[in-house]
Amino acid sequence: MSLLAVREVSKRFGGVNALAGVTFTVEPGQVFGIIGPNGAGKTTLLNCISGLTRPDAGDIRWEEASITGMKPYRIARLGIGRTFQIVRPFPSMTVRENTAMGALFGRTNGRLQPAAALAEADEVLDLVGLGEKRHHTVLRLTVPDRKRLEVARALAMRPRLLLLDEVMAGLNHVEVEQALEMVRRVREGGVTIVLIEHVMSVIVGVCTHALVLNFGRTLVEGPPAEVLKDPRVIEAYLGERYARRQQPPPHPAPKSEANEEG
Ligand SMILES: Nc1ncnc2c1ncn2[C@@H]1O[C@H](COP(=O)(O)OP(=O)(O)OP(=O)(O)O)[C@@H](O)[C@H]1O
Ligand SMILES: [Mg+2]
Repeated sequence: MSLLAVREVSKRFGGVNALAGVTFTVEPGQVFGIIGPNGAGKTTLLNCISGLTRPDAGDIRWEEASITGMKPYRIARLGIGRTFQIVRPFPSMTVRENTAMGALFGRTNGRLQPAAALAEADEVLDLVGLGEKRHHTVLRLTVPDRKRLEVARALAMRPRLLLLDEVMAGLNHVEVEQALEMVRRVREGGVTIVLIEHVMSVIVGVCTHALVLNFGRTLVEGPPAEVLKDPRVIEAYLGERYARRQQPPPHPAPKSEANEEG
């Protein structure tokens, strides 16, 4: 049984076909990478899965039961955690308190005591490398640390499926390596992962499967190394300039927060 099944999902925004009949399945234990050019529909897809956006057509199933159009908090409580490409911390709270929110309102359904939620927070903050900054206010955090906080809050929900939207954007080489290690540890802990990334070393370094979106449609899907070699992918995703060079750049320039979709 697939953990997640996305069937013919479509979403329009005015004249833009953000998603046009996207179909794929995620199996337990996978690290499922989604790549594609800016505006390809990646975040919209995550929004549809997590209930933030209602698809116009198609069906999304979690262990065979439809979750299409379900409220985000209900989907979260089923065990689907997510991060936001535009980070969304609670600005008046510390790193630790922000993370504890995930524990309080995730799968435990509001039944966890605050002290227990803070203890959960401490555990996941160590996992994402924010342990020493647990008492900082979020306003003091750098962008990469805010992305780590997104991951921590999602993990504190104890999800079975974790959806990561460009959490490694803006990280340097060493930080990407640390983030990959974190993804591996999370996966070893039994969490299935769907991740959107522009960093190619992440896709080959940690993903067991890759799907390329282009103009809201699946362009290619399969083992990451094969997908990244596909000429259609090189041209669509990296542009003709890189297609001529015939090899992907290790780190395309990270987008600034200001340019990201909201
Ligand atoms: N709420 C919205 N209202 C109108 N248009 C939207 C909305 N959300 C997304 N779009 C449009 O849908 C298309 C897909 O956007 P989406 O954010 O899903 O792309 P993406 O693949 O995540 O891009 P990026 O790599 O830049 O994050 C884009 O053309 C975008 O402008
Ligand atoms: Mg996006």
